[in-house]
Amino acid sequence: MEATRLLIKNAKALVGVHPPGVGRVQGADMRVLPLLEDGWLMAENGIITAMGIEADWPGIADWNGLEVIDATGRYVLPGWCDPHTHTVFAAPREGEFVDRINGLNYEQIAAKGGGILNSAAKLRQMPEDDLYHRAKARVEELMAQGTVALEIKSGYGLDLESELKMLRVAKRLKQSLPLQVRSTLLAAHAIPPEYKSDRTGYLDLIVNVLLPRVAEEGLAHYVDCFCERNYFTVPEMERILEAGTRYGLPGKVHVNQFSSMGAIAAAVANEALSVDHLEVMEPADIEALRGSGTIPTLLPSCSFFLGIPYAPARALINAGLPVALATDFNPGTTPSGNMNLVVALGCIKLRMLPEEAVNAATLNAAAAMGLHQELGSLTVGKRASCIITRPVPSIAYLPYAFGQDHIDTVIIDGKPVRSGASAA
Ligand code: NIG
Ligand code: FE
Repeated sequence: MEATRLLIKNAKALVGVHPPGVGRVQGADMRVLPLLEDGWLMAENGIITAMGIEADWPGIADWNGLEVIDATGRYVLPGWCDPHTHTVFAAPREGEFVDRINGLNYEQIAAKGGGILNSAAKLRQMPEDDLYHRAKARVEELMAQGTVALEIKSGYGLDLESELKMLRVAKRLKQSLPLQVRSTLLAAHAIPPEYKSDRTGYLDLIVNVLLPRVAEEGLAHYVDCFCERNYFTVPEMERILEAGTRYGLPGKVHVNQFSSMGAIAAAVANEALSVDHLEVMEPADIEALRGSGTIPTLLPSCSFFLGIPYAPARALINAGLPVALATDFNPGTTPSGNMNLVVALGCIKLRMLPEEAVNAATLNAAAAMGLHQELGSLTVGKRASCIITRPVPSIAYLPYAFGQDHIDTVIIDGKPVRSGASAA
């Protein structure tokens, strides 16, 4: 097969050009977003092979079959990595949105049969193929918004067959679309109605039947648990994480969304890859993360949509930690998978600097899904998956002019998935 080759020339700057081997940035280093001004980038067969500044452009002998993009006036950024989503679901839940406007909160809506169990009832009914086509259309839109890697959770099946169905859909998305997909078993998302009076029975099903099956069929990379009052307790989450470890599935867990119950220390003790949400944090929760490999992953569009507190990003960064950002795309609490909005909210509501927010949505987000060796920065040897902006005055302008579409072109593995004026 002939090599596919791509050259991006005259970029206002290549952004996020972290040196090879830097897997995440933390604390004060989060505000360092390395740039190559007036840059060029070469890719072959989807991998970045060379980069530099125009003054040192070595020229090229063979222009045959080379796709050239003129990025004059435009920034080239690593594509967004979204390490926390529930993108596979049957149907939206805008009725609950209206309930909330009328004064009910998330927990009250769940108590009256809405929430996760509402989504589970619909998903159990839906044929796998329909579920796949709905999710595929969503993911295609996310790619056009600059997302080049996506974590997708199960958790709306809540029984053996339906959880497997969700994970098979995620696998099919991975096979049929160019972006990177990582999947997570979130059977411990809610207790299903048939186990209402037998929670241990449901935990047994997850640990003794579902997890071994998922591991055997290679259907998930990670395991998750919604550790929260009215959902799963800390000891139940520990049981899931320990079982995950036995089957080679590290944890990525929902914790501290509505309450602080000691889940973060327990997740760290079990070497979870990430702890996600963190809207309600005690000093001890931050302390527990220090010196660990567990990445705090914040979901500001969930806070925005639900009107709940925002996670304390500044305190986490000031404690020397590596913060990642994600959308939490799901029909109940975050019906948007747009990482551009998440980066803007990271700055506007979490008070992250634009450089911190970009690092959090690229390199640290890639790390929070185990993809930092192949994505998250413009680095020779990594995948050529990037965003070319429209002409904008600065990087800070991207989150500042929130809600506007700043993207011209999106490239995944060296090939445009959305082409704008620069590709002409
Ligand atoms: O991350 N918090 C738990 N799970 C999802 C919400 C799921 C739903 O309401 O459907 C979340 O916000
Ligand atoms: Fe979530």
